[in-house]
Order: sequence, then C-alpha cells, then structure tokens
Amino acid sequence: MRDFKTILVTGGAGFIGSNLIRYLLSDKSGFTGRIVNLDALTYAGNPDSLADIDKRLGGKRYFFLKADICDRKAVEKAFTDYAIDAVCHLAAESHVDRSILGPEAFIRTNVMGTFTLLDVARIAWKDRSDVLFHHVSTDEVFGSLGDSGFFTETTPYDPRSPYSASKASSDHLVMAYHHTYHLPVTLTNCSNNYGPYQFPEKLVPVMILNMIEDKPLPVYGDGKNIRDWLYVEDHNSAVWTVMQNGVLGQTYNIGGENEWENIKLLDRLIDLVAEESGKSSASLRSLITYVKDRPGHDRRYAIDCSKLKTELGWRQSVTFDEGLRKTVRWYLDNSGWINRVRSGEYRTWMDVNYTQR
Ligand SMILES: NC(=O)c1ccc[n+]([C@@H]2O[C@H](COP(=O)([O-])OP(=O)(O)OC[C@H]3O[C@@H](n4cnc5c(N)ncnc54)[C@H](O)[C@@H]3O)[C@@H](O)[C@H]2O)c1
Repeated sequence: MRDFKTILVTGGAGFIGSNLIRYLLSDKSGFTGRIVNLDALTYAGNPDSLADIDKRLGGKRYFFLKADICDRKAVEKAFTDYAIDAVCHLAAESHVDRSILGPEAFIRTNVMGTFTLLDVARIAWKDRSDVLFHHVSTDEVFGSLGDSGFFTETTPYDPRSPYSASKASSDHLVMAYHHTYHLPVTLTNCSNNYGPYQFPEKLVPVMILNMIEDKPLPVYGDGKNIRDWLYVEDHNSAVWTVMQNGVLGQTYNIGGENEWENIKLLDRLIDLVAEESGKSSASLRSLITYVKDRPGHDRRYAIDCSKLKTELGWRQSVTFDEGLRKTVRWYLDNSGWINRVRSGEYRTWMDVNYTQR
C-alpha cells in the first residue's frame, strides 16, 4: 500500500476537492500526512468550505496556496517548498453549460493546466518511484449510451461537449506522461457527484435551493436524460483507495450503480425536501418547469465500476436516499455558506483572508 507525506490537492476549494480534503484529514482515511490545497479560487472555489479545517489544522497539516495550475512557476514553487510526493488533481472548469457558452477557459485550465502540472511533476520527481500523480476525471469522456450497456475502462472515448473534450484531452496527457516518461500515474473516471458544498449551479443544489425559495424547478427537454449518481464521500473514498492501491498506469471507473432519469430524481428530491422542511410536496411539484434542452445533451451515462470493486475492494457506503437526505439537510442547515456563495460576499472575505498571506 502506498503512503504519502504531502499530497498536493489541486482544486481543493471546489465541491469534490473540499470534501476530499475533509475526508483525508479525518480518521476515516488513515492518512497522517499533510495536504497542500492549490486553488485559483475561480467563481467555483470557496475557501469558506474549509474554514474549520484551516482553523484547526492550518499551518500544521493543512496549507492553502492561491495559485493557478497554468502558472508554472507557482506550481514549481509548491513542489519545492512542500516536498510534494503525491498529486491529486481535481482543479478544472467543470460546468458543461458554461463550456458551451465559453469553451476557452476549459481548454486553458483542463488541458494546459493539466499539462503544466504533469510537466512540473515529471521534472521535480525525475525517476522516483515512491510518488504518484492521480488524475480525477469524468464518465462524460465516454460519450452517450443508448437504453442499455455500461461504460467500462475500455470503452472508447467519444466526448461530446467542450467540457468532456477538454477532460478527455487531460486524461490522454496523463496516460501519455506515464507511457513516455514513466511518470507514476493513476486515473479515475467518475459519474455525477452530489453532496454538501456543491456550487449552486449543478442540478441537485439548484433544485434544493429553488424549492426552499419557491422558485421554478427547471428541467431540460423531456426530463428523461439518465445519469448515475454517487455521494461525494464515496467518490473520495474510491479516489483514496486507488491512490493507495491502484495499479500504476491504470484507469478505474467509479460509480454509484444508481441510474436515475432527471425527472424521477427530482420527484424523489421533492419528497425529501418536503419531509425535511415541512413544505407541501404538491406545491413543490407545481414548480416543475420544462425548459429548452441543452445542445448536444447526452442521453444516458451508466458506469460499470466492477474493476474497482473486485480488484481493490471498494464499496459505496450510503444508499441514494440516505445521501440525498444528508444533502438536503446540509443545504437547509447551511444558509450562511449558501448566501455567501451567492452574494459574492465570500470573495471579499477571501481577499482579506487569503491573498495577503
Ligand atoms: N462534479 C461532478 O459530478 C464530477 C464528476 C466526475 C468528475 N469530476 C471532476 O472532479 C473535479 C472536481 O469537480 P468539482 O465538481 O469539485 O468542480 P468545482 O467546479 O466545484 O471545483 C473546481 C475547483 O477548481 C478550481 N480551479 C478552476 N480553475 C483553476 C485553475 N486554473 N487553477 C487552479 N484552480 C482552479 C476552482 O477554483 C474550484 O475550486 C473536476 O476535475 C471534474 O472534472 C466532477
């Protein structure tokens, strides 16, 4: 089993990254080293998500660096200053709709940023074998499925949106660095995540927050697009399992084995929000509004994660109902975090608290 002293987590102020850092620094992971969180704090990055961790472990086991992964000098400095021996790379532009409106930022961060990190790691680590570059990617690189079948690790790449094309490029670069330069890498492709601290532009938090505020619940097209859903902590336990035990140069699919049509997911979410908030589910249902479909909207994603389960012994830990209920509760209980994210107030807070460090 691999062990690391200092893991550089990129994008650690985002949704999955902040949950990953929380997980790694908890007793659940068994990790005893340090985390360096390198994040540019774009609109999606929010240091407030880790304010408690920073207070408790900042300067001891947790370090925050405000930097862009495309800034080679800043990345080199992080490697040198903190003697990084593992990278868990999550930093990305991550929202499909934004990639349709403005693809350039996706190519810059997801392709050039990944290249920069890989190249710095290659030079900093030379021929070391006790190091690891883990790349976090998406099942969207595989394209769209019909009514049956699953994505496996050998499914040919067929990305359809600028987002998935940029992630596919980054995956290829990671594997190319392994084959060409023998950089020790592992890679995971995961399905849709949900859970606490997700920026309120993605489906689950948008719906919960709109229900809380009695706003329309926008559903793309006929609402029958299918996604596989995984609780964010289960994604992170899988990433950590692969970082410790995955075979170098291998890809592992991560999924919830939990396919839902968007409209059925929304139906379930309405009942949970009604139960947790005391609102009437009938009045919440009346807020459903069908809107024009997203261009190139992939119909169905479904993941076969049996390789991860049989070879590395990973399992999901929560059912969809348990995970969704926890998520609903978290959004109901954390109006301070939500208001700051939405008002942009946390940016001022961030400027005062972080850029002057
Ligand atoms: N959310 C999902 O359902 C999902 C599923 C599978 C894979 N992924 C992948 O997981 C990773 C994290 O996703 P997320 O949902 O947490 O995203 P997110 O948008 O919530 O967070 C992304 C983070 O990256 C940071 N960032 C963006 N550009 C940067 C740059 N140039 N330099 C440094 N930091 C930068 C942002 O500030 C933010 O903190 C992404 O690589 C994404 O492709 C996400």
